Amino acid sequence: MTSALFSPIELRSLRLPNRIVVSPMCQYMSVNGSANDWHLMHLGQFAMGAASLLITEATHVSAVGRITYRCLGLYSDENETALKRVVDFCRKYGVTKLGIQLAHAGRKGSAHTPFEGGKPLAPDENPWTTVAPSPLRYGPGWHVPAVLTKPGMQEVKQQFVDAARRAVRIGFDLVELHAAHGYLLHEFLSPISNQRDDEYGGSLENRMRFPLEVFDAVRAAWPKERPLGARVSATDWIDGGWTPEETVVFAKAMKAHGCDFLDVSSGALDPRQQIPIAPGYNVPFAEKVRKETGIAVMSVGMISQPRQAEDIVAGGKADLVAIARAMMDDPRWAWHAARELGAETAYAPNYVRCSPAVWKP
Ligand SMILES: Cc1cc2nc3c(=O)[nH]c(=O)nc-3n(C[C@H](O)[C@H](O)[C@H](O)COP(=O)(O)O)c2cc1C
Repeated sequence: MTSALFSPIELRSLRLPNRIVVSPMCQYMSVNGSANDWHLMHLGQFAMGAASLLITEATHVSAVGRITYRCLGLYSDENETALKRVVDFCRKYGVTKLGIQLAHAGRKGSAHTPFEGGKPLAPDENPWTTVAPSPLRYGPGWHVPAVLTKPGMQEVKQQFVDAARRAVRIGFDLVELHAAHGYLLHEFLSPISNQRDDEYGGSLENRMRFPLEVFDAVRAAWPKERPLGARVSATDWIDGGWTPEETVVFAKAMKAHGCDFLDVSSGALDPRQQIPIAPGYNVPFAEKVRKETGIAVMSVGMISQPRQAEDIVAGGKADLVAIARAMMDDPRWAWHAARELGAETAYAPNYVRCSPAVWKP
């Protein structure tokens, strides 16, 4: 049997041997934005696991753009050195290509980690002033963000560019801009969080303007041969919010600007959202974007079974599947999927002896 999930795909000069991606997963283990031994283990285990692409957790382009004090960043030389150590380690021992998710948390920053409850930092907990398109807080009790002025937007754009340049030096294969989950770029897209009355707010064209400008600036700084894409939330799951139809318009614009793929997630802009969570609940959005724009798409959300993933790719609903929790549960997910689907996948040389080709459990 030939497996669509285990068929190769090319994004610019990056050739991926299968369609399985380790989805970004915040670890809240960094100190001053720098990765450490935790990341050697966390990313190292996935680098061995034969998903074709491993995307780092949201890696923030500035200290203000972090969600929490424990988030990963790429805004200082120390951050760059620390992350390069992890990437070199993954390259030395692993088989997986490495992508980085560049992010700015916008109004959802200055918060506790989820283990500490995820609430905004209290006045005696050294909160910082968050920034956003409009002075609208994420939800009750959250910080009211400072409005990004045009010079402030220039600064953020430059921070994305600087982080992308650091990512080039580190040697990442791919960049994904985080334009989903209610963080800064999504805040510009959604009419709920963006109520500006300048050329960056109001019409869809205006709301897309800043994310597209950031994309263009990063595209110019990122090597031509390496793929650049973005994660989007296809819907805010709330009346009056960002919609799948707007996502299609944005996807067309992104594609025209040189975007290589969209990683289609949903929600997290507004706590009033109502999400009908079920296996593959975001797949129809990925399929819609793929069919209506022709851009390569990754689907993510409650994809946990090999046959489910196979059907998504074989059915032309998505080009790639990104998997988060099932990967944490089983970092060898791709090996086991290959076994179930009768496909072959890469093993690090030291681990070849456990492959079904030489040993049948
Ligand atoms: C621990 C954890 C951390 C996450 N951190 C990020 C992140 O840094 N960036 C992001 O875009 N999504 C993040 N997500 C969302 C996942 O990438 C994924 O979209 C979501 O978990 C749904 O996929 P799943 O059902 O395979 O877990 C995180 C999810 C988990 C479970």
